[in-house]
Amino acid sequence: MASASLSTARQQHHEIAQQLHHHNFCYHALDRPEISDAEYDQLLQKLLSLEEQFPELATADSPSQRVGSQPLEGFTPAIHARPMLSLENAFDAENLKEFDTRTKRFLSRSEDLQYLCEPKLDGVAVALTYQQGKLVRGATRGDGTTGEDITQNVRTIGAIPLQLQDDYPEQLEVRGEIYMELEAFQVLNRQRREEGEATFANPRNLTAGSLRQLDSKLTATRPLTISCYGIGISSEATPKTHKDSLESLQRWGLKVNLDMVQEASNMDDVIARYVELQEMRETLPYEIDGMVVKVNDSNLQQELGEKSRTPRWAIAAKFPARQEQTLLESVQLQVGRTGAVTPVAKLQPVNVSGVMVSSASLHNWDEINRLDIRIGDTVVIERAGDVIPNIVRVVAEKRTGKEQPIPEPNHCPICHSPVHREEGEVIPRCQGVNCPAKLKESLKHFCSRGAMDIEGLGDRLIDQLLRLKLVNSLADIYHLTREDFFQFDRMGDKLADNLLQAISSSKQRPLENFIFALGIRHVGKHLAKVLSRQFGNLEALATATSDQLLALHEVGPQVSESLIHFFGDTNNQSLLKKLNQEGINPTSDEQVIGDRLQGQVFVFTGSLEQFSRKEGEALVEVQGGRASGSVSKKTDYVVAGPGAGSKLAKAEQLGVVILSENDFLQLINSE
Ligand code: IVH
Repeated sequence: MASASLSTARQQHHEIAQQLHHHNFCYHALDRPEISDAEYDQLLQKLLSLEEQFPELATADSPSQRVGSQPLEGFTPAIHARPMLSLENAFDAENLKEFDTRTKRFLSRSEDLQYLCEPKLDGVAVALTYQQGKLVRGATRGDGTTGEDITQNVRTIGAIPLQLQDDYPEQLEVRGEIYMELEAFQVLNRQRREEGEATFANPRNLTAGSLRQLDSKLTATRPLTISCYGIGISSEATPKTHKDSLESLQRWGLKVNLDMVQEASNMDDVIARYVELQEMRETLPYEIDGMVVKVNDSNLQQELGEKSRTPRWAIAAKFPARQEQTLLESVQLQVGRTGAVTPVAKLQPVNVSGVMVSSASLHNWDEINRLDIRIGDTVVIERAGDVIPNIVRVVAEKRTGKEQPIPEPNHCPICHSPVHREEGEVIPRCQGVNCPAKLKESLKHFCSRGAMDIEGLGDRLIDQLLRLKLVNSLADIYHLTREDFFQFDRMGDKLADNLLQAISSSKQRPLENFIFALGIRHVGKHLAKVLSRQFGNLEALATATSDQLLALHEVGPQVSESLIHFFGDTNNQSLLKKLNQEGINPTSDEQVIGDRLQGQVFVFTGSLEQFSRKEGEALVEVQGGRASGSVSKKTDYVVAGPGAGSKLAKAEQLGVVILSENDFLQLINSE
């Protein structure tokens, strides 16, 4: 029976995997999802639980590989079967015209050439190798001849199909750019800023950093995506035009930025598009640093060939960097809710391609020292994807000798408690337990959307609450009265009522919001949801051991330590007690003790010998599964003891996985 159940499991695994591949394609490549995220998660859970039972099903092309795998010792070199070339640059319309003339001369043609214009995404170039439609390798460009094998990391990127579809060539190597959308980048940087982590200068650095991780589970948490722009190698004939190649790539399931690709029938059209794209640059959801112009006809591409490092059939028309020079007038120290003291450069206001800029990120003191930035310096600033621009360098020629260094602080600028920089950290933290700056940031976070979501209680009111000393801890929000609010500027009856109502209804927020609202270091919205589902109430989470925490896929040593530290702190304990006394005691409906059988439906049949039916059902439920009395299409497993009859027959007919009692116990007890 073991092999029979393996073969049904294999069949079921295959079907679920196909469905996941399909939904992945709809979501990422077409941007047209057919099912909700929750439904997708459910399918994935089903697949994971099959693989848990039959580890041999967890093949490299299984959608389960998206979550990351064992950390690597180091990256191995990846030799490119065809070199990954770079592109020559054009910086203006004149350069583009020269390219057009050059190209026609080389081809001995006088008539117009048809070009394809593509946005030049600013990310990391990769080559993806598919054999028989399966992704077998992902490699960085490196020096063009040899890159690094980043297959494990590439597999975690949802937009990269693990399995191609339709009429794909047996052997295919695809080239594309991995990047991160601006919004995701900004959210990540903001979160890191709040938590006092090193921020990234631009989405490209963050992408490169994420792909360079030896632990692919970390890469899996970074919302990377890809845009494919060419076929490197194919076992089939090259499509007639470059546009056809791009369309084929999309048909095979790869993500191509087709909406943004434009055909041009001559160089004037190319130049018009160059101007247009530069205008669009500010509104696109990702960073582009130019436009790539390619000769569309594949035969002509072939005829043009390549020079030592660049093809003759393409050129990158670059956009000007969004940089300006200005004066660094002063440095402001900000204190985040975790006590992180971060330096912010205050600048003489300057217009950087349409946006007025008066402050810039200095990131941290390692960065300040590396760039040798001083107050009074003229600096080059750049807008590069973040809301806050970066300082790129100091204009040393403009130094007068009067510039002042920016010392790392010993004391918190707000509460004057000592600050401490832990080993391996880039930012010092205020150690003051009652630091008002920490309280202010914690309050803002607590009331924000996705947290306790207290509408109306924004920055301005929080500032007043603190100034009037009406609130000394998060729990004090729940003691506020109408009279308190009337001490505020411009407060009317209606607004006061609305605020009181919003505060009161925030007590009913789901557990995941509450966990997130606490502002525990490294616990973002997603993790709060995972913890809520896993532990079901705050008490269980607060008393969880590090082993219990580390058993969760999403939790690594850093997160576990942060949680244990948070809940072990006596101040936090008394805060939680106070909040509890205010009636905030959310539980998760989805509470499970384990999640191994998340969403799985079990039916027990036959005369069970090793446990009673009730015991079996309880074992399923504590692991997030469900027990049912009858077999249907929705049943995932049938546990059959001796003498099982019609239910077993029906299960076989429907292709449901059948387990013996021993199989079941093994599944329950497996790690
Ligand atoms: S074609 C042989 N198309 O720009 C030509 N490159 O030096 C190969 N890039 O790092 C490049 N968007 O990864 C091409 N639509 C696009 C691109 C693009 C971004 C990157 C590429 C490489 C650099 C070119």
